[in-house]
Amino acid sequence: MLLKQRIKLCQRILEHRRCLGTTPPTNQSFRKWYQKLWTTERTNLPPYNHFTQIGDPVLRQQAALVPKEHIDSPEIKAIVEQMVKVLRKFDCVGIAAPQIGVSLRIIAMEFKGRIRKELPEVVYQARQMSELPLTIFINPVMSVTNYSKLKHPEGCMSVRGYSAEVERFEGVKLTGLNQLGTQNEITLSGWNARIAQHEMDHLDGKLYTDHMDRSTFSCTCWEAVNTKSGRVEIPFYK
Ligand code: CO
Repeated sequence: MLLKQRIKLCQRILEHRRCLGTTPPTNQSFRKWYQKLWTTERTNLPPYNHFTQIGDPVLRQQAALVPKEHIDSPEIKAIVEQMVKVLRKFDCVGIAAPQIGVSLRIIAMEFKGRIRKELPEVVYQARQMSELPLTIFINPVMSVTNYSKLKHPEGCMSVRGYSAEVERFEGVKLTGLNQLGTQNEITLSGWNARIAQHEMDHLDGKLYTDHMDRSTFSCTCWEAVNTKSGRVEIPFYK
């Protein structure tokens, strides 16, 4: 074999080895390692089981109205179910369809009673928090019922690991369809009005970072970063 041919053959073997990957690095689980051996491109399709993150174009789109004829469809039912599942899995208070990768005007909110026990009573009162049973709106329309503004820290599962103070109207009214396709109307105040405004923003491609008090933008674990010498991770899964 000529030298040139030999070199080419060696190169091909090396290339082939690179494609197949090698042994799993010791610091990674076998599952994580073998998943990297093939492309995951477009194999994980919406509705997702996780929250899309800031930078994803779906969070910047004007979400579309759910066509009337599809409101009762199994597809919409599946999207709503998935939204509730993700909302509860991540233990949060609100979710909009673009956050699971679906650019449709659907929101779900739920403020569980047990949150009261997890927060200092002063905070609970100051933020005007109150229980809100699972509330779903398809094609919601919002109007302001109390133009007074309240400023409190706010976070978003699509801007994981950060929070900032945001001004929101004290009271709003939502009208739209519930998950059964029946016309619904709800008047909210305080923290629940905040949740509604936050989720409505998602349907218009807006995030709280667009109108936060920028000087208050914080990493939620900045103290832990110091105490743990930087060994802190922000999880995007649960
Ligand atoms: Co959000």
